[in-house]
Amino acid sequence: MKHIRGFASDNNASVHPKVMEALVNANDGHAIGYGGDKITERTQQLFKKVFGKEVETFFVYNGTGANVISIQALTHSFNAVVCAHTAHINVDECGAPEKLSGCKLLPITTNNGKITVEQISQYMHGFGFEHHAQPKLISITQATELGTVYTIDEVRTIADYVHGLGLYLHLDGARLANAAVALDCSLADITFNAGVDVLSFGGTKNGLMFGEAVVFANAQLADNVKYIRKQSTQLHSKMRYTAAQFEALLTNDLWKENASHANIMARKLETGIRQLNNVKLTQPVDSNGIFAIVPKGTIAKLQEEYFFYIWDESRSEVRWMTSFDTQEEDIEGFLEVLKREVG
Ligand SMILES: Cc1ncc(COP(=O)(O)O)c(C=O)c1O
Repeated sequence: MKHIRGFASDNNASVHPKVMEALVNANDGHAIGYGGDKITERTQQLFKKVFGKEVETFFVYNGTGANVISIQALTHSFNAVVCAHTAHINVDECGAPEKLSGCKLLPITTNNGKITVEQISQYMHGFGFEHHAQPKLISITQATELGTVYTIDEVRTIADYVHGLGLYLHLDGARLANAAVALDCSLADITFNAGVDVLSFGGTKNGLMFGEAVVFANAQLADNVKYIRKQSTQLHSKMRYTAAQFEALLTNDLWKENASHANIMARKLETGIRQLNNVKLTQPVDSNGIFAIVPKGTIAKLQEEYFFYIWDESRSEVRWMTSFDTQEEDIEGFLEVLKREVG
């Protein structure tokens, strides 16, 4: 591979300098462990400012942990969780949600990563019937695993439907910032103001070294979460370092700056791709992910220069992700390679 920065994942990006600075600043003497420190307290208050004063925030190590804890908090092991078949919880967490929550996942086939009330309703039966796993939680991803974005109205429609049945709505927001930027709305508008009950809020893909947050709409929903987080091995003893990173991300809208840049870079790549004859986009470019079909046999050549992942080998479909540290020259360089190798 010739180039340092590629398009494999926003997880491959570096740590934003302001986040690194926050880590260094937090590295000052002793502080109470397990979240009893001042930075954690301050950052939890900041989450209330950003997401709404009722929310309760729990910092965790990673996105899989955030999703697992969200599910565990609002379900029993006899429940079912409805999600898209493309959902990270369904395909990329090695069965952790099922193992740790005991719940059955009910995946909905989707072409664009989004699910609708009509599709969800097909699973809304068997309530009270002891032979069926009882639906309790709907999980949607924003931005989706296919880079698409639910509108606020789409989220609210699902939330209203779900609440009407006494169920909860979880939002996997590993890339929530990219979605909020795409919709030009606040982080609160696309989550709790739209009826989300629990949110996995991503940091790692948007400039953090590590860390995600599980955010509940209110304290009642978060009743047992401190025990669940510990049991799930997601309680960080040196919590101040996770919190400090989020404090940096939510200060002066760094989250927005980073996600905007990633989205703009994806748009630039999309514009260039549209000039090519042999690359076919398979999804709208709503956020920072591009999905495309390239001629069979060209992928290895492209990967020699810029690393990225194959999405669906059978269709020769690839995924190109941009991130906060993608540079214009990366896009231009990659487009040149695409033109040369694919045309
Ligand atoms: C949609 C989504 N959710 C959650 C995650 C978090 O995963 P991890 O456990 O690797 O932090 C990812 C990471 O790729 C993701 O794409």
